[in-house]
Amino acid sequence: MSRSRCMRFAVFVQGTGNHIAGWRLPGASDNGESLAVMQNIAATAERGLFDLLFVSDGLATKVKGDHPSFVARLEPTTLLAALAVTTRHLGLGGTMSTTYSDPFTTARAFASLDHLSQGRAAWNAVTSSAAAAAANFSRAGHPEHDHRYEIAEEFVDVVKGLWDCWEDDALPRNRETGLFVDPAKVRTLDHVGRYFQVKGPLNMSRCPSGHPVIIQAGASAAGQNFAARTADVVFTVVQDLVEARRHYAGFKALLPRFGRQPEHCHLLPGVMPFIAESDAAAKALLDQLQGFLDAENALALVSARIGHDLSGYPLDGPVPELPPTDMSHAFAQTLMSAARRDNMTLRDLYNLVAAARGHWVIYGSPTRIADIMEEWFLTGAADGFVVLPPWFPGQFDAFVDQVIPILQQRGLYRTAYEGTTLRENLGLPRPGSHRGVGAAAQ
Ligand SMILES: Cc1cc2nc3c(=O)[nH]c(=O)nc-3n(C[C@H](O)[C@H](O)[C@H](O)COP(=O)(O)O)c2cc1C
Repeated sequence: MSRSRCMRFAVFVQGTGNHIAGWRLPGASDNGESLAVMQNIAATAERGLFDLLFVSDGLATKVKGDHPSFVARLEPTTLLAALAVTTRHLGLGGTMSTTYSDPFTTARAFASLDHLSQGRAAWNAVTSSAAAAAANFSRAGHPEHDHRYEIAEEFVDVVKGLWDCWEDDALPRNRETGLFVDPAKVRTLDHVGRYFQVKGPLNMSRCPSGHPVIIQAGASAAGQNFAARTADVVFTVVQDLVEARRHYAGFKALLPRFGRQPEHCHLLPGVMPFIAESDAAAKALLDQLQGFLDAENALALVSARIGHDLSGYPLDGPVPELPPTDMSHAFAQTLMSAARRDNMTLRDLYNLVAAARGHWVIYGSPTRIADIMEEWFLTGAADGFVVLPPWFPGQFDAFVDQVIPILQQRGLYRTAYEGTTLRENLGLPRPGSHRGVGAAAQ
């Protein structure tokens, strides 16, 4: 694998830290709804030349036992619009559900963010695995897993179609002739599908990126096909290098089937790094946070991740063999496979899940963290990483100020942003506007 590739980084923002107990440390941020906290994280990400700041979302809150940043959270596109004002290069990625949103609203929200940030918007298109959302959206029930992906496929096509209704030069704004908009360069979409009927055009001109960057994170067969067809960036759940390489190779091989080049979709595993001056000191930080966990909360978290209620099982017994459910396959598959591989008890599994919600945890000196990332990057397991700092600002500062310089010295990471839009920085082509989507708009 070539050394000239640039590692990609996204930061997974949780105002209370990504570790469920991160906020309890002295000096750690304890607020996921504070603009000042978010602006500080964004400034650090930009100092570290990160590609992307990422805001997750969920559409129902569970007050007892959940991660504190999920209990009380800001709506992602609103937050990102505010962050567009105080950043200049950083990509701004937010989550919006294809099961509980509307394509027209979604197309508008991310195109607006792209205009406001001059080409830095990214949409994490999720199908929403938590069934509790249905009760908040006047729905009788939550669609089952593959049905959600079927809706998502059409949803994304409509959103992209709406972004394509306008050609790049459709707004001449000619003061002399009085021609503000050139109607020949704006087309309707006229979409009539199984789930959506959308006439268009979008009530907004073509955005600087052409299309905002699309992020996806599904690992099921349906999820991977959806991502291979539509996504520019894919977040993955990993626990093991060999499995990650297999997944990476399998996913990249899917892309040509959809007429795409493998380097036009970046695979970024999620990782929570604990960083200190020595490996032992970093492990002590992890142990300190794990000491805050209590079994009741942890079992609720494990149950949510693997989709089965585990409250009746003994904590020190083996992890039971359970079939996949209708929820997220990404986490269930990875966690069950790690449990089998390492012969885990339920307590081991809950320690793992509670730390990083099922994501991969590493600890060590800055050099050790850089070594691990280099190995994954150069041996076909990752194009970069979604970094989940266990708490802010301390552990994110440590990553940016101590790990990033090592990666730069090794020639693995940029020393300046290459472009102005997120697409340019990610090395992704800008989609051209397609003439003749529908009829000329009136
Ligand atoms: C790094 C990462 C971030 C994610 N963020 C969200 C999110 O913000 N909201 C959400 O509903 N799902 C989120 N997911 C879940 C996935 O989008 C996906 O819906 C889930 O894994 C189910 O798909 P699957 O069964 O195909 O794996 C995330 C997954 C990963 C790996």
